[in-house]
Amino acid sequence: MKTLISERLCLRPVTTRDFPAMAAMDSDPNVMRYLCLKSPVPTYEQALEEQHYILELSAPQGAGTWAITCRTTQAFYGWIWLVYLGDGKDIDFGYRLAQKFWGYGYATEAGRQVAHYGFSDLAISYLAALIHPLNLASARVAQKLGLSLTGTVDSFGTALDRYAISRERYVALLSSEEECTA
Ligand SMILES: CC(C)(COP(=O)(O)OP(=O)(O)OC[C@H]1O[C@@H](n2cnc3c(N)ncnc32)[C@H](O)[C@@H]1OP(=O)(O)O)[C@@H](O)C(=O)NCCC(=O)NCCS
Repeated sequence: MKTLISERLCLRPVTTRDFPAMAAMDSDPNVMRYLCLKSPVPTYEQALEEQHYILELSAPQGAGTWAITCRTTQAFYGWIWLVYLGDGKDIDFGYRLAQKFWGYGYATEAGRQVAHYGFSDLAISYLAALIHPLNLASARVAQKLGLSLTGTVDSFGTALDRYAISRERYVALLSSEEECTA
């Protein structure tokens, strides 16, 4: 996996050293509001014990989970992934930030880097995000990155919105943006 740098962020592969910060995030009920739908929010200790799953997920070659960190201080803000989830057919695009870092455009900035890397360097054919219909911040991030609503998917009894973008659509959006700035 390649480290990706943007204006404010450094996205580097997640390691076990990130687990305490990730567990703090995953035991925050505000962060988990639309994610822990059928199970209680874990305690910090439970979340810490579960973190290893993230390193075990299968992913397209060159992808996986990146820690979203501050480019200057290396502080951990959250993570973003491109992995295979569920039946392994969909390339899942997921992102999660600690609450104090919401509202600064970090998810969108990180998402741009990962989507660009996925489509340009890894030549993936599409990516998809499953989003709870009430998770408006996440849906907005997906839309700002060019994903569009393709339907709903049942996830353990909850209907989630599926947002997706194909490589062709991504390339077309990129060229129209480049034309606008030329
Ligand atoms: C979803 C999440 C990653 C967004 O991170 P972020 O860095 O705050 O996102 P950005 O700042 O890049 O963009 C958020 C957008 O949503 C908008 N938004 C935020 N809360 C909103 C709300 N309640 N209703 C409508 N829009 C909202 C923001 O205004 C912004 O859009 P804008 O740039 O057009 O103003 C963050 O809230 C999070 O980690 N949530 C908990 C985990 C989660 O739900 N992950 C997604 C799982 S599908």
